[in-house]
Amino acid sequence: MTSTAARSRVFVTRALPGSAPIEALRAACAVDVWEGDEPPPRDALAARAAGCDGLLTMLTERVDGALLDACPTVRVVANMAVGFDNIDVPAATERGVLVTNTPGVLTETTADLAFALLLASARRLAEGEAAVRGGTWGPWNPSWLLGREVAGATLGIVGPGRIGAAVARRGQGFGMPVLYSGRRAVEDFPGAFVPLDALLERSDFVSVHVPLNEDTAGMFGDEAFARMKRTATFINTARGGVVDQAALARALRAGTIAAAALDVTTPEPLPPDDPLLGAPHLLVVPHVGSATGQTRERMASLAVAGLLAGLAGERPQHPVNPDAWERRR
Ligand code: GLV
Ligand code: GLV
Repeated sequence: MTSTAARSRVFVTRALPGSAPIEALRAACAVDVWEGDEPPPRDALAARAAGCDGLLTMLTERVDGALLDACPTVRVVANMAVGFDNIDVPAATERGVLVTNTPGVLTETTADLAFALLLASARRLAEGEAAVRGGTWGPWNPSWLLGREVAGATLGIVGPGRIGAAVARRGQGFGMPVLYSGRRAVEDFPGAFVPLDALLERSDFVSVHVPLNEDTAGMFGDEAFARMKRTATFINTARGGVVDQAALARALRAGTIAAAALDVTTPEPLPPDDPLLGAPHLLVVPHVGSATGQTRERMASLAVAGLLAGLAGERPQHPVNPDAWERRR
């Protein structure tokens, strides 16, 4: 038996879905798991991370230089998410801290949610359901709750990564011509590459799949919405920060665009009295893009694998900052 003293110590910031991921981690490390359903407050995170070799974090944890300085023994941070905008990656790299993420395993699940939002918004499902429950469902009416056609409508994908491609394939299955934009054309992407302005001008449904970073923060503002068709629907399953929410509310109120469907907002949770929620033709769901049992367990397993590889000095499957790993070897 390996002595406990020699084992790596890790802090996991929430109970992990499924039993296999945490068992795999416990088999190899001394594991401390945050007991709350809500994220650990910052001081508790720093206190529990102190003395650890690795952290397994959620997208709710802000991991920056100050936090890493409070736990200088931490060598690996495995983020259980594909996005890593909650982590100051340059600060981690500077400190030789390896960061890993969980791409791939949530691609189809997140694409399903994006397409569910597209369909639900196009066919006004939330309004219909509210009418049924609210007692305003009258006799069949040829002009009631008319939505927007999906088949034949142009789908614009902003951000041609894995998730964007998976949404594009769904669009093709529904008979939608697909346009996409990004920094460069991607080989075999299921759609036609166009500049962002052309995509915004030509698409009936615009679905966002870019990471949140300095280049993408607030990229959907007054100017972008003004370029879109008045009949267009805006769908965001990426990060709330890519949208200027005040501009989105203005665009919906003014009829600059027809509708929006969001899985992500700023902040999260969005308070029920947030001004955005007063805007018309808006569907919002609570950041559930990857929320199936199977996918969340796969994400947890991948995060555990990244953490264990990093702690063992091996190259993990999905390093965010391979430089940090190179530096450590
Ligand atoms: C979820 O939003 C993720 O980045 O995995
Ligand atoms: C995520 O997996 C992406 O690359 O879009």
